[in-house]
Amino acid sequence: MDDRNFDKVSGDAPAQSYRLLRRMLPKALHPYARGVRKRLLRGKARKEEPFQTVWPYTQVSQKRQDSILDRTTALIAEGVPGDFVECGVLDGGTAAIMAYAARHDESRRVHLFDAWEGLPQATDEDGEGAAVWVGDVVGSPRRVMAVLRKVGAAMDRVTVHRGWFDDTLPVADVRQIAFLHVDCDFYAPVKLVLNTFVPRMAPGGWVQIDDYQSFEGCRLAVNEFLADRPDIALIDDRRAGGATVFRIP
Ligand SMILES: C[S@@+](CC[C@H](N)C(=O)[O-])C[C@H]1O[C@@H](n2cnc3c(N)ncnc32)[C@H](O)[C@@H]1O
Repeated sequence: MDDRNFDKVSGDAPAQSYRLLRRMLPKALHPYARGVRKRLLRGKARKEEPFQTVWPYTQVSQKRQDSILDRTTALIAEGVPGDFVECGVLDGGTAAIMAYAARHDESRRVHLFDAWEGLPQATDEDGEGAAVWVGDVVGSPRRVMAVLRKVGAAMDRVTVHRGWFDDTLPVADVRQIAFLHVDCDFYAPVKLVLNTFVPRMAPGGWVQIDDYQSFEGCRLAVNEFLADRPDIALIDDRRAGGATVFRIP
């Protein structure tokens, strides 16, 4: 794997940039910044479903959302077996895209993993800048349920695994996976997710990693994991807004 292209932080990390900006602004200007951001996000959101519904519920860029819908839809069309799994759900926007794709496919479950307590303690691998995010990024399971219902998800085939990954991943009843969305920012959770779930992926399945270009701990975890899997090629998918993906051979 050649990771020279991944050394620089991508410009496509809208949520992180917004939160940094908000930290720099005086509190009185926060509502104004929120309003500007909301208008920008609404303007960028595609008009068709499920994107019109999910945009207020996600921090993930439109192109990366497109990539999730395109890949999950293609997996169903190709008959690649297995469930759709997301680690890092927050308010449920990207989870709802996966659930929307799976809504008519009775063979597929959607598994959602999050503690909903903000980002956990960072480790040395995450670098000095990571400390500012600890405890930040707190979503709401209630909002997750709301957006899932709005997109028409088959709720009886959605399982929510609430808790820290250290506790929930080892005991989760997830057998085969077709699509894995890794959106949990830091080194330790990303490494745990890859070690736990990639061995359960079906041939032809896709893994999409949201933070490879924006969090150094995530990048290190992925590089370490793939160092032992020379059969897997990492793809920096420009069409997917710089989301990093790989396909299981
Ligand atoms: C960037 S957000 C996910 C964004 C979401 N996919 C979206 O559509 O906006 C990261 C999420 O990962 C969760 N998370 C990170 N590390 C975790 C861990 N070790 N255990 C459980 N949840 C974790 C956080 O609670 C947070 O909700």
